[in-house]
Amino acid sequence: MKYPVRTRYWLPPVLFVSLLAAAPRSARDGVYSKAQATRGKALYEEECAKCHGVTLGGGDGSPDLAGAGFLDRWKGRSVGDLFTYMKKTMPTDDPGHLANRQYTDLVAYLLSSNEFPAGPTDLDASGPAINEIAIDAKP
Ligand code: HEC
Repeated sequence: MKYPVRTRYWLPPVLFVSLLAAAPRSARDGVYSKAQATRGKALYEEECAKCHGVTLGGGDGSPDLAGAGFLDRWKGRSVGDLFTYMKKTMPTDDPGHLANRQYTDLVAYLLSSNEFPAGPTDLDASGPAINEIAIDAKP
C-alpha cells in the first residue's frame, strides 16, 4: 500500500511512540525515585507501622508488607491495583484520609522494601499509566 508523501514522514514516529506507550512495564524497571521512597518511609512510620510493624513484618492480624508472602499475594497485579487498594482501605482505622501524593509515596516505599529498584523519576498515580506497571515476582 502506498501512503501519500507527507504521511510517509509522520507515520513511522507516530507508530513508534504508540508502541512505546503500549509496551507493558514492570515494577522492576525503576518506576519510583529514592527520594519518594524516603518520604513514604517517614509517612509509613507515622500512619502504618503501628499495625504492619516498623520492619513491615506485620503482626496482630495485620499482614506483612515485605517479602515472599507479600509478593506472592500481589504478583500478577499492577502497581495501580496496590495504590487503589491502599487508598480505599488503608489505614483501616481511617481509610483514604491521605492525599494521593502521600499514597503514591507509600507505594514507592513498599516497592523499595520489596527490593524493586529505584529509578530517575517519581512514580505518578495521576494517570492510567500506573495500571500498566506489573508487580513481578523476582526474575
Ligand atoms: C489499624 C491497623 C492498620 C493500619 C493503621 C494500617 N493497616 Fe494496612 N492492613 C491492616 C489489616 C488488618 C489488613 C488486612 C486486611 C484484609 O485482609 O482485608 C491490611 C492490609 C494491608 C495491605 C494488603 C496486604 C496484602 O498483602 O494483601 C496493604 C498494602 C496495606 N495494608 C498497607 C497499609 C498502609 C500503606 C498503611 C498506612 C497508610 C496501613 N496499611 C495502615 C491493618 C492496618
